[in-house]
Amino acid sequence: MTTNVDPEKTAKDSPIEIHLATGAADGGASPPAAGAQPGATSAEPSLGPPIFRLHDLGVWYGNHHAVKGVTMEVPKNAITALIGPSGCGKSTALRCLNRMNDLIPGARVEGRVLFGDEDLLSSDVDPVDLRGRIGMVFQKPNPFPKSIKDNLEFGMKVNGIKPTAERVEQALVDAALWDEVKDRLKAEAFSLSGGQQQRLCIARAIAVEPEVILMDEPCSALDPIATLAIEDLMKKLAERYTLVVVTHNMQQAARISDQVAFMTVEGTAEGNRTGVLAEVGTARQIFSAPKDPRTEAYITGRVG
Ligand SMILES: Nc1ncnc2c1ncn2[C@@H]1O[C@H](COP(=O)(O)OP(=O)(O)OP(=O)(O)O)[C@@H](O)[C@H]1O
Ligand SMILES: [Mg+2]
Repeated sequence: MTTNVDPEKTAKDSPIEIHLATGAADGGASPPAAGAQPGATSAEPSLGPPIFRLHDLGVWYGNHHAVKGVTMEVPKNAITALIGPSGCGKSTALRCLNRMNDLIPGARVEGRVLFGDEDLLSSDVDPVDLRGRIGMVFQKPNPFPKSIKDNLEFGMKVNGIKPTAERVEQALVDAALWDEVKDRLKAEAFSLSGGQQQRLCIARAIAVEPEVILMDEPCSALDPIATLAIEDLMKKLAERYTLVVVTHNMQQAARISDQVAFMTVEGTAEGNRTGVLAEVGTARQIFSAPKDPRTEAYITGRVG
């Protein structure tokens, strides 16, 4: 019997178990296929074209070199998970993608971040406009102290989008919150549960029609049911948006992501600790055959 199976779709949609193949960690000795990212194997389903290209990205806080030498691509309309031990620079690296580090006194970013062909670190880029195109959802739900409806309309106004009832409804539908709030749009956002507040924040990010949504541990304050609801939502959103998600939860990274970037901390000669990108690859490759022994140690729970 012949079946009409799209191998790429099947590989992407089937659940990934964190299960290391024996002898898979070859220290990255085999050369990557042409065009592949470091760590990707040629047998892997290909990820889409890149929307971000990071080259030798580094961040300093004062004289602390917090992150250095991050070179990777972020595929469009896919979920990239950023994983690694606490303090390795995941949030710092994520914030570079929409210039949020500009808001931190003493922070300095070096290297290149291309968004399409646009050099995001250039002084020509308006960071406020950029954050409309590249939205962010934080660890702790942070709705404004306003009604549910006002939370959505406020962001639209700031970003020059005319707030309409249809746009409010669409954002809430897309964030899988509409059915729960449609009869109380004027209620305070703080009257929602934590999981609902986080979906409202996602709705607020979607409402300004971004191209990318950055999420920094979006489920860490939520219970397992609310977490699964957000994960389902993220997978649906990836059909239309590019998502970059920081998570400490390996199972979550395995469940949701297409690409995984593993960051870790290296000691410097001066006795400082600097975050580096150890490995990036498809989720399947990272969780079944990591090339860097540090990745393997982390995902199997031996360190971190
Ligand atoms: N605003 C800041 N000012 C000074 N140093 C900072 C600032 N934010 C982060 N750092 C430092 O940069 C390094 C990376 O921090 P970052 O928050 O990016 O790590 P992380 O991987 O997101 O950690 P976690 O998993 O705990 O959230 C750390 O050494 C941290 O102390
Ligand atoms: Mg962080």
